Amino acid sequence: MAQRFKNQVTIVTGGSAGIGEATCELFAEEGARVVIADIDDTAGAALAVKLKQAGSEALFIHTDIASEDNAQRLIAETVKAFGTVDVLVNNAAAFVLKGVEATVADWMKSLSVNVIGTSLVTKYAVEQMKKNDDGKGRGAIVNLASMSGFIAQPNFLTYSATKAALVQMTKNLALDLAPFNIRVNAVCPGTILTRASHDHMERTGQSLEDFLAEQGPSHLLNRVGQPREVAYPILFLASEEASFITATHLMVDGGYIAR
Ligand SMILES: NC(=O)c1ccc[n+]([C@@H]2O[C@H](COP(=O)([O-])OP(=O)(O)OC[C@H]3O[C@@H](n4cnc5c(N)ncnc54)[C@H](O)[C@@H]3O)[C@@H](O)[C@H]2O)c1
Repeated sequence: MAQRFKNQVTIVTGGSAGIGEATCELFAEEGARVVIADIDDTAGAALAVKLKQAGSEALFIHTDIASEDNAQRLIAETVKAFGTVDVLVNNAAAFVLKGVEATVADWMKSLSVNVIGTSLVTKYAVEQMKKNDDGKGRGAIVNLASMSGFIAQPNFLTYSATKAALVQMTKNLALDLAPFNIRVNAVCPGTILTRASHDHMERTGQSLEDFLAEQGPSHLLNRVGQPREVAYPILFLASEEASFITATHLMVDGGYIAR
């Protein structure tokens, strides 16, 4: 089967681990030139080597999305290496899980990465996407929101607020960028087994077995998801097969919020 993203320059923020890593791998398998943008240099560089050994074009660029300088440099270095930006997957997030007791520092961390950081990378990526196809513009952006943007979970205030913001930001961006042929959509995962889940287990002293037993049954499919099960919907929304889809959010939550 033909590779669906042959030579498409795809940036994945938070690409060093979890859903981002699975997304980098899937886009690489589909022929994309993949840019891994992350603060985790060791894992990001190792993933770039792995993708290149498998025959793909891949580049790791150290990027803290909360830094405007970093966001601007990410796009400049991507364009220098690969010529343009076709797809942006806004996946990086800070998991600040606090309730009403959250401090200003907690709020600033959560908002500066999840909301402002996502906006900064998008701002500079869009400048480049507008130049695609001889200035007519073309691009696809997929934002990682969450089921947490729709439901209440204990002590998720600082995180859920940012994920709900991303659902709304997706619509605003889609409206503003439609004239430039740039589609903007979101995916909203349920519980996915990633490093973030392992960090959560560590914080709460839960074993993997307990975590799965607690989380699994809340999903209609009676289990948590795997990173690749989110990477495929991201790939779909970024693809030509989704050419008439913009401003939407796709639940990838095993049916969690249906109850
Ligand atoms: N895992 C889940 O259950 C779940 C559920 C719903 C939504 N999501 C969303 O999916 C996305 C990925 O989550 P995950 O579980 O794969 O997380 P993860 O912790 O496994 O990976 C996140 C990656 O983002 C990177 N990162 C963190 N802060 C960054 C920053 N400031 N700049 C650049 N990179 C940064 C980390 O180094 C890491 O490589 C997030 O947006 C998250 O909110 C995850």
